[in-house]
Amino acid sequence: MQTIVSADINRAASILREGGLVAIPTETVYGLAANAESAEAVVQIFDVKQRPSFDPLIVHISGRAELDRYAHSVPESAYRLAEAFWPGPLTLVLPRRDCIPDIVTSGLDTVGLRVPAHPMTLELLRSLEFPLAAPSANPFGYISPTCPQHVMDQLGGKIPYILDGGACLVGVESTIVGFEGGQPCIYRLGGLPIEKLQEVIPNLNLKISQSSDPKAPGMLESHYAPRKPLVLAKLSKLLPLPIEDRVGILSFNTNWTGVHGVVHAEVLSPAADVQEAATNLFAALRRLDASAAERIYAELIPEVGVGRAVNDRLRRASSS
Ligand code: TXA
Ligand code: MG
Repeated sequence: MQTIVSADINRAASILREGGLVAIPTETVYGLAANAESAEAVVQIFDVKQRPSFDPLIVHISGRAELDRYAHSVPESAYRLAEAFWPGPLTLVLPRRDCIPDIVTSGLDTVGLRVPAHPMTLELLRSLEFPLAAPSANPFGYISPTCPQHVMDQLGGKIPYILDGGACLVGVESTIVGFEGGQPCIYRLGGLPIEKLQEVIPNLNLKISQSSDPKAPGMLESHYAPRKPLVLAKLSKLLPLPIEDRVGILSFNTNWTGVHGVVHAEVLSPAADVQEAATNLFAALRRLDASAAERIYAELIPEVGVGRAVNDRLRRASSS
C-alpha cells in the first residue's frame, strides 16, 4: 500500500468515510484514526499497531456539545474540566453509551473522550458524521510520533494516508482523568499539567493508577520505550566517562556534545523550559535510538508542570 502524506482534509474525510485509517495530527502526538462507530474500521487499528485488544482507544470528538452523545451520568466536575480545557490535552474517562462499539473500549463500560486542539483535525471532526477512535500512531509499546515523518518511518506502507499538520506543539500524550465514586482521579500524567487541573478541581485525587491496572494500559511500565537500553542517571556525576564507550545522552539543558564517550547528545531545552522539553522529548528519543550509541543515559527534568509527564515517560522508558 502506498502511503500519501499531505494536508488535504477532504481526502482524509473520504478515506475515513470508506472505513479506512488516517494518521491525524493533534497538539499532543499523531493519532491513528478510524470511524469510532464502526467495529470493522477500528479493528484495523489494532492490526496495524500490533496493539493488544485489552488496551482501549481514545475517542476524539469535535466539541463539548458531543460529550453527552457518547457518555452518560457525567459528573459535574467533568463538565467543568471539559469547559476549561477542551479543545486541549485532556482525556475524560466516562460511562459510555451503546453507540461506541466494545472493541473501542476493550469491553469496558467507560469511554475515553477528548477534543484535540489542532485546527486541521478539528475541521476534519466537524466535517464527519462520526467521532474518531485514535491511539497514538506508533507500533504498540514504542515512542509516540510527533511529526508526519515519525508516522511514515513506522507505519509507511501500512496505512493509506497521513494528514500533515506539522510538528506537535505539546509533545506528550493527553492527561487522562477518570472518576471513581464521583471523585476525579488521574490515570495518566500528560500534556495538561496537574497544577492546571487543580485550578478547576482543588480536591483532585492525585493517586495515579499503578502499572498493573488493566484499565489503564497506557500506564504499563515498559511503554513509550526506545529499542536501546535507557538508563536514568545524574549526568554531571557520570560524565566524562572514564572508559572507551559509545553512549547517547538526553539532557535537560546542558550540552554534552564532545565529551569523552558521548557519540550523540540531545538537549531537550537549552532555555531550561519544561514545555519546550516535552515538545522535543519523543523526537530526541527517536534520534538517540537511530544513533551510533549503544546505550542511552537520560536525566530527569524539574518535576513541575508538564515536566512531570516528561519524567513519567522517561521512567517508563527506563524499565525493561
Ligand atoms: O494525546 C493522546 O491521548 C493521544 C492522541 C492521539 O489523542 N492518544 C493516545 O492514545 O495517547 P494511547 O495510544 O495512549 O491510548 C489511549 C490510552 C489507553 O492506553 C488507556 O490507558 C487509556 O487511554 N484509556 C482509553 N480509554 C480508557 C478507558 N475507558 N478507561 C481507562 N483508560 C482508558
Ligand atoms: Mg500510545
